[in-house]
Amino acid sequence: MAGAIAALASCATEPQSDIDKKVDDLLSQMTLREKVGQMNQLSGGAWLAETAAKGEVGSILNCVDPAELNAVQKAAVEESRLGIPILISRDVIHGFRTIFPIPLGQAATFDPAIVEKGARVAAVEATASGIRWTFSPMLDIARDPRWGRVAEGAGEDPYLDVQMGVAMVKGYQGDDLSDPTSMAACIKHFVGYGAAEGGRDYNSTMISERSLRNTYFPAFKATAEAGAATLMTSFNEIDGIPSTGNKWLLKNILRDEWGWDGMVVTDWNSAGEMIAHGFSRDLKHTAEQAVNAGVDMDMMSYGFIQYVEELVAEGKISEKEIDRAVRNILKLKFELGLFENPYIDESASAKVDYAPKHLEAAKQCAIESAILLQNKRNVLPLDKARTILVTGPLADAPYEQMGTWAFDGQKEHTVTPLAALREEYDVIWEPGLKYSRDKDTKDFAKVRNAAARADAAVVFVGEEAILSGEAHSLSNLNLQGAQSELIAEVAKAGKPVVVVVMAGRPLTIERDLANCDAMLYSFHPGTMGGPALADLIKGKAVPSGKLPMTFLRDAGQAPFYYNHNNGGRPCNGTETLLEDIPIAAGQTSLGCTSYYLDSGYGPLFPFGYGLSYSSFEYGRPVIENAELERDGTIRVSFDLKNTGRYEATEVAQLYVQDKVGSVVRPVKELKGFQRVTLAPGESKTVTFELPVSDLAFWNIDMEYVVEPGDFRLWIAGDSASGEPVDFIVK
Ligand code: BGC
Repeated sequence: MAGAIAALASCATEPQSDIDKKVDDLLSQMTLREKVGQMNQLSGGAWLAETAAKGEVGSILNCVDPAELNAVQKAAVEESRLGIPILISRDVIHGFRTIFPIPLGQAATFDPAIVEKGARVAAVEATASGIRWTFSPMLDIARDPRWGRVAEGAGEDPYLDVQMGVAMVKGYQGDDLSDPTSMAACIKHFVGYGAAEGGRDYNSTMISERSLRNTYFPAFKATAEAGAATLMTSFNEIDGIPSTGNKWLLKNILRDEWGWDGMVVTDWNSAGEMIAHGFSRDLKHTAEQAVNAGVDMDMMSYGFIQYVEELVAEGKISEKEIDRAVRNILKLKFELGLFENPYIDESASAKVDYAPKHLEAAKQCAIESAILLQNKRNVLPLDKARTILVTGPLADAPYEQMGTWAFDGQKEHTVTPLAALREEYDVIWEPGLKYSRDKDTKDFAKVRNAAARADAAVVFVGEEAILSGEAHSLSNLNLQGAQSELIAEVAKAGKPVVVVVMAGRPLTIERDLANCDAMLYSFHPGTMGGPALADLIKGKAVPSGKLPMTFLRDAGQAPFYYNHNNGGRPCNGTETLLEDIPIAAGQTSLGCTSYYLDSGYGPLFPFGYGLSYSSFEYGRPVIENAELERDGTIRVSFDLKNTGRYEATEVAQLYVQDKVGSVVRPVKELKGFQRVTLAPGESKTVTFELPVSDLAFWNIDMEYVVEPGDFRLWIAGDSASGEPVDFIVK
């Protein structure tokens, strides 16, 4: 693949590449109208053929019917003056037909290899239906589970975000964009969209430049360097400037600083929405601001196609800006080989959709993404039970378990937990509730009676797919409807109770944990969620997932993330809680630390947390050299022992703290992880090698440097465990 940055580098030092020559040649033949046509992206199918024949559309989204796509493509290629093919796009977010776990669930695997495989499967299936461009991966750091779109990204941590984002880009794009199974990736939403105030979608954000650079940019920069072909601007404004009109972001950072030369598209009408922001006077003004800021293609505002020619005539946009945009668009079309192979074989998708190896990969990903949060008395796995009660609104909900943004997954192909558990057990099936928001408890007596007849009960609760994703923020994160009451009802039978949560976000499940023995959190696990969960419940597979976001006791704690800065009065364990305060208490400062009177300080579960059916013992980390130069490498080893009865995989995590900085540094930052598989009783020495340069950050002078001084590191199974080990950078 012509990596975007590599391509730029070669332009600067070598003669123009063949593609650059072809682009220039084509560009020189184009009228301004034809150029603006390339910058226009529309939603639709065959009915856009006439527009395509006039050369007034460069890309379409949201059609997946190969015959319709071929019809539009034919109009563009055979009827338009220059025959420029259309770039066909779609939101292929976590699978096309074979749906993988939602991206947040994929992040819980801490396994970039399985995530890359998932993206490859998605690309193979989507390209067989003619899709050559996906609007994925979403790289938005998300620290507030009220925001419905936490489902679409890797969660709260920049390092994990980088690993997951790069894996997806590699999987989608393959080795060479011109391969017919390659799909251009689109890194989105640039930038800060996940920091929406209060977790309310589309809301404003206030993010400092330093925080953008330290926290929100890294995954964009890393995926840009990995060759991501396109980037999408975000809906939000930062400090008053909507991203789609933000020249500093789109030119200074993306082009000048990072040297990226891919193609920039707006989000859906995000140019037009600059009017609602109060940043643009009218649609014409939005086009002027967006193009001049550095946008190449307009998704669905119609502003470019209506006004850009006028704006050029008035001297408000230079033709140079237009040529820049069109060059980026044409270059991608050449790289994808669209000029040579514009059409789709209409019978191709039938051969690849839901291929057995795709289903196998989706199942493996779902197994790895499930997180065991509680397992009292080791009730899981249910390897001895014969008769089990299966209940709850998510047990047999083939559509809901696919989660948000699963447009093309067909529920007929989904295997539910109910179906899969019937292969393993004598199942008594009592749904209890019809859907996750159902409040009707009339069937609860039946459920309780059934529980009494079973050896154990498995309750599938969570969220319907529509409750998370875009425009689906929530202020209350408890289980909806009467789901918590259902769990409590089942518990009354006195049998082992396993709760499985399938949801698009971290929910507040503290009271539900009290009413069950074991809890598996699977997020929305996709097409093969049923067989994956059945294997975990039966003990044919062992959980290894780890939380990609902090789990809260109460929604009022949000935003809450492990890698925060300390205030001047950090929590010190002396907190006074509501019930400790006497009536008519006089004014007092209650220990003066940073916490809530009702929910205390800590989260319910920290980032990185997740149990296994086995258990692991971490030896103390030993640093090879505790005094390092700035160009050195930290080598740290520890012994990991499987002290349980199952062969199992542990995700060992390396965290570092820069104790004193020219600006306040996070209390901990993830800097590495390894999945380690051990047989029962087996022990292994595991080594992390961390270049000291990975400790760099944007300091007081807004320079990216490693500041010498005292550091500490932890190696543990989650972000709240482990004994610190000190080291010095000279
Ligand atoms: C979303 C994007 C998506 C686009 C196209 C927008 O509403 O924010 O993430 O790619 O629609 O469907």
